[in-house]
Amino acid sequence: MPSFQMTAIVLLLSVMLGGSNAQLSPTFYSNTCSDVVSIVRGVLEQAVQNDIRVGAKIIRAHFHDCMVNGCDGSLLLDDDAANGIVSEKDTPPNETIEAFQIVDDIKTALENSCPGVVSCADILALGSQIGVSLAGGPTWQVPLGRRDSRTANQAGTSGIPSPLDDFDELQRKFRDVGLDDSTDLVALSGAHTFGRARCSTFSHRIGTDTTLDPTFSQVLGQICPEGGNGDVLTNLDSSTADDFDNNYYTNLQNNRGLLQTDQSLFSTAGANTVSIVNRFANSQTDFFDTFVQSMINLGNLSPLTGNNGEIRANCRRIN
Ligand code: HEM
Repeated sequence: MPSFQMTAIVLLLSVMLGGSNAQLSPTFYSNTCSDVVSIVRGVLEQAVQNDIRVGAKIIRAHFHDCMVNGCDGSLLLDDDAANGIVSEKDTPPNETIEAFQIVDDIKTALENSCPGVVSCADILALGSQIGVSLAGGPTWQVPLGRRDSRTANQAGTSGIPSPLDDFDELQRKFRDVGLDDSTDLVALSGAHTFGRARCSTFSHRIGTDTTLDPTFSQVLGQICPEGGNGDVLTNLDSSTADDFDNNYYTNLQNNRGLLQTDQSLFSTAGANTVSIVNRFANSQTDFFDTFVQSMINLGNLSPLTGNNGEIRANCRRIN
């Protein structure tokens, strides 16, 4: 075979096989479950009436899922000794995830309309977008077509950022999964514009951390007194707690980031994240546009596609 033909075939094959996310598409379910978006939205619109945090809970779960073996629903599996599954749920970063019931409710609604079609990994990705838009954030077309894993990776949860990580560690964890350690890091951290955190995740900063505004530190000291209950919740965004907006970034400019990791994006001397925080504080449109792209980057982390994995009937168990 002439070498140029050979080259053409190799090129074609690499385009076809290359990039495991090449098969994700917003229209993936258009022939098999055309109402997928409205079904997921319907469940979330109902749920948010009783739980303003539902969007925050689901996007956090999507992030923790994608950080371990990619966006494959591995986070959702319960312990299952018979199938060798040691759940990712029983680890410090995941013990406080509260999205499992809402994922089950969405799955039930989807199974009623299109049984065996929509993956649990896609429920997390699509639910995140809808949760963000219900809180006043951007709307975007979510690439779909992920399949669910048949395994969990409990040890892999050490790759999920901890609120005690220093700035270098934070950047390393983003780089390790293939996310950008400046733009993606700053934009995705903006999800802390809604939702809550426990005293145990930030109380070590009270009265000791010089990058914490003294007045804010006093307020936090009242919410989380020394020796008090570490599970007490407070708002991640102290200015507009439940709205998806860019106030997270103005908080950082005012030394009112709640987590040490949040504040480090602005307060680390010479860091390349500082100018990005300033950009997003100055323009909510810039934040929203970048956030959408970074969410797509997050959702593209090593999805299972084609014949890999499965479509779980129950998000908590392999089929
Ligand atoms: C950059 C590193 C990150 C660290 C260290 C971190 C850490 C944390 C911690 C400690 C909490 C509080 C958990 C609790 O006390 O229950 C939290 C909550 C939350 N995180 Fe993150 N996070 C990070 C990035 C992200 C990203 C990238 C997203 C989404 C794109 C996200 C979304 C959320 C949301 C929405 C909540 C509130 C959840 C709720 O109200 O239940 N986080 N995060």
